Amino acid sequence: MNALATTAQALMAPGKGLLAMDESVSTCDRRLAACGIAPGDEARRRYRELLVSAPGLGERISGAILFEETLHQRNAEGVPLIEVLRAAGILLGIKVDIGTTPLPGHAGERVTEGLDALGARLGRHAALGARFAKWRAVLVIGTDLPSRACLQANAHALARYAVLCQAAGLVPIVEPEVMMQGDHGLARCAEVTEEVLCQVFTQLREQGAALDGLILKPNMVLPGASFPGPTSVGEVADATLDCLLRVVPAAVAGVAFLSGGQSPLLATERLNALHRHLKPPWPSTMGAPISHIAPWPLTFSFGRALQEPAMQRWAGDDAHRVDAQAALLHRARCNGAAALGRYQPAMEADGLPAAGPASWRT
Ligand code: G3H
Repeated sequence: MNALATTAQALMAPGKGLLAMDESVSTCDRRLAACGIAPGDEARRRYRELLVSAPGLGERISGAILFEETLHQRNAEGVPLIEVLRAAGILLGIKVDIGTTPLPGHAGERVTEGLDALGARLGRHAALGARFAKWRAVLVIGTDLPSRACLQANAHALARYAVLCQAAGLVPIVEPEVMMQGDHGLARCAEVTEEVLCQVFTQLREQGAALDGLILKPNMVLPGASFPGPTSVGEVADATLDCLLRVVPAAVAGVAFLSGGQSPLLATERLNALHRHLKPPWPSTMGAPISHIAPWPLTFSFGRALQEPAMQRWAGDDAHRVDAQAALLHRARCNGAAALGRYQPAMEADGLPAAGPASWRT
């Protein structure tokens, strides 16, 4: 097997998932402030030290996605945080897009930037030990949105990024996120997500990306955050599987979902339901609907849904550091179980409150 596929398989190891801790400076500061913590360089460093040094994190986390500043952050003893992660057996990933900018001529839509000189940056990250990278595109659902122009611009950038990563020996995490904002129902999210993924895989093919050496990081198919009706966990799982199975090629190394502003509990329950709705492998699937046999491993690549309870517990006070690490480990364990379809609500009894401040959901 080639080196990219080997790395991708290690990231998709059964019962493990990815910790997204790649918030930009402004996003991390905003989230710290929402938890009553004075933001700034030192608060971000202390918080990230707390995350990466949680004892046993590597038992459930295969890879950590870092923001560039974390490549150079050190713990209180002066040890680089990337060495702490390496010692825990966690693969290093790096967010390499530089954020989104308004798409000219398309009000309300954005395109992700960062392709300029990306090859050279990837080379430097690989030299520091990064094994994978991440690029996030953002698509918003509206009456006539997303536009074709927005779909194509973002899909093209994702595909260019992916082949640049592979040329540098890094596994690309390809993240086209259909945002939860809006009052649309499940069917509209399914329709848009399918179109987004179609465009992304068309562009990946055009650019020559190796599908067995990349991981897709999609949104789950969800109703809009202000959709009035109830939607069950099972409906989300069915809609998500049906959508992905129509458009994600079987050769893709894995699918690692983002949490996108779902509560930590719901994100875990829905990931678990995705597995519970899969049928066992052939030949016991004789007669089962093909729509419920997934060709790729499914796991989590959560940011907020892993971190929220930990940041709340910490609250900027190292007297709560052990509790905060326990909260992170608890969510990692629950999601690790969900990635095998073995999560039980009773597992929450051993853990800590999983709700975060409402401002995290925006
Ligand atoms: O870019 C977003 C992160 O990779 C995933 O974060 O799980 O909070 O949506 P999230």
